[in-house]
Amino acid sequence: MSRSAHPAGPRHADVLTEGHYTAPPADLNALDPKVWAHTVSRNEDGVVSVGGIDVATLAEEFGTPAYFMDEADFRARARAWRTAFGHDADVFYAGKAFLSRAIVRWLYEEGLNLDVCSGGELTTALSAGMPADRIAFHGNNKSTEEITKAVESGVGRIVLDSFQEIVRVAHIAQSLGKRQRVQIRVTVGVEAHTHEFIATAHEDQKFGIALADGQAAEAVRRALALDGLEVVGIHSHIGSQIFDMAGFEVAARRVVALLAAVRDEHGVELPEIDLGGGLGIAYTSEDDPRDPHEIAKALNEIVTRECEAAKLRTPRISVEPGRAIVGPTAFTLYEVGTIKPLDGLRTYVSVDGGMSDNIRTALYDAEYSVALVSRASDAEPMLVRVVGKHCESGDIVVRDAFLPADLAPGDLIAVPATGAYCRSMASNYNHALRPPVVAVNDGEARVIVRRETEEDLLRLDVG
Ligand code: LLP
Repeated sequence: MSRSAHPAGPRHADVLTEGHYTAPPADLNALDPKVWAHTVSRNEDGVVSVGGIDVATLAEEFGTPAYFMDEADFRARARAWRTAFGHDADVFYAGKAFLSRAIVRWLYEEGLNLDVCSGGELTTALSAGMPADRIAFHGNNKSTEEITKAVESGVGRIVLDSFQEIVRVAHIAQSLGKRQRVQIRVTVGVEAHTHEFIATAHEDQKFGIALADGQAAEAVRRALALDGLEVVGIHSHIGSQIFDMAGFEVAARRVVALLAAVRDEHGVELPEIDLGGGLGIAYTSEDDPRDPHEIAKALNEIVTRECEAAKLRTPRISVEPGRAIVGPTAFTLYEVGTIKPLDGLRTYVSVDGGMSDNIRTALYDAEYSVALVSRASDAEPMLVRVVGKHCESGDIVVRDAFLPADLAPGDLIAVPATGAYCRSMASNYNHALRPPVVAVNDGEARVIVRRETEEDLLRLDVG
């Protein structure tokens, strides 16, 4: 298609204010290392590669759409969190961001623990050999079966989320002749600056027990009185995709204040606090994520200072990063199918996936970047909206971005930073087949979650 067929940018002022549109990047072929996995680069022939394998070869072998994960980058990020927090703290990777048996093994090898929030995640973790005592079990409505399985398998901790659950877990543990290590999840009343659906520490939501009105103190009181429970600490998770450390600091301060109140009332110093996950990553060049060392330093300092002031022994800290470890390590590779220029507005680029492999744009208005990766191009930038193939106009993958104006059907484009909450939230909408996750490392690629097949779909269909 000729370049003139594609408007180079929006001409109506309202598009500028309605969209997330910013100026085109100086060089459309550049790959910002903030948003791409470590080993991603553009080769001399213009083709992008990851882990030493170019995307044309990967697409040929594994098809599109597909998630390609940089294993070395995943391990490096996991290790960076582990080293930043050191031996006096624990890092629990949040499996909800993305979990598979290969991931469990990498985490085990890199010395991380694992946070699971369902029976399915627990089964995956155990089946891949994660020792149960390195697993924390979460959830605001764990079923009796899930609690029983967690207690029987000997998980390191269950995070209690409600008054009913305190009694339920105590009862199940006791009937199994066990004493279960538990933390109590509190809501500290912090308004995290993130999307409403992923903020979790303000009081008007379903997670945790409020510190306000003495509810959390009452929960500790009840839990301490039950034989089936060993109360080891307090848990707080304030939300997700957060850049500002201020919310974590307020949370840490309030959690330590609760530890002091528990000590004053019961003469018990709870030995652990967990400050949850939620650290933001760069989805576009405008995001500036924190380094794990900076995060560890800030959290350690605040907890130590508050504990000294309250004359408490400093508890063992744990954190639960999910997105910050896996998010930047993968990109989704798509093939361009159709290109529809809407004069004066933008160009719609349809790819072979969509909201079934990345629901985050539709659900949270999330922003993503995109690049042409099967070749370099010197063409002018054109404003595009990358959309999927689903029967829904909200099926948007990248709301506003620039791609070269000579983009053509058959080109491969990639959306970076899709390692977290994309495959794990993928659906079969329109009977889409969920894409594979392929780990690439040092010139080798291997499938860690295979592509779904039509037989997979039919297997669930009874009659
Ligand atoms: N710990 C707890 C108790 C959590 O609930 C979560 C995330 C995490 C740790 C990990 O948070 P992370 O470090 O990954 O931000 N689907 C949403 C995110 C939901 C997060 C739910 N809980 C998204 O795609 O943005």
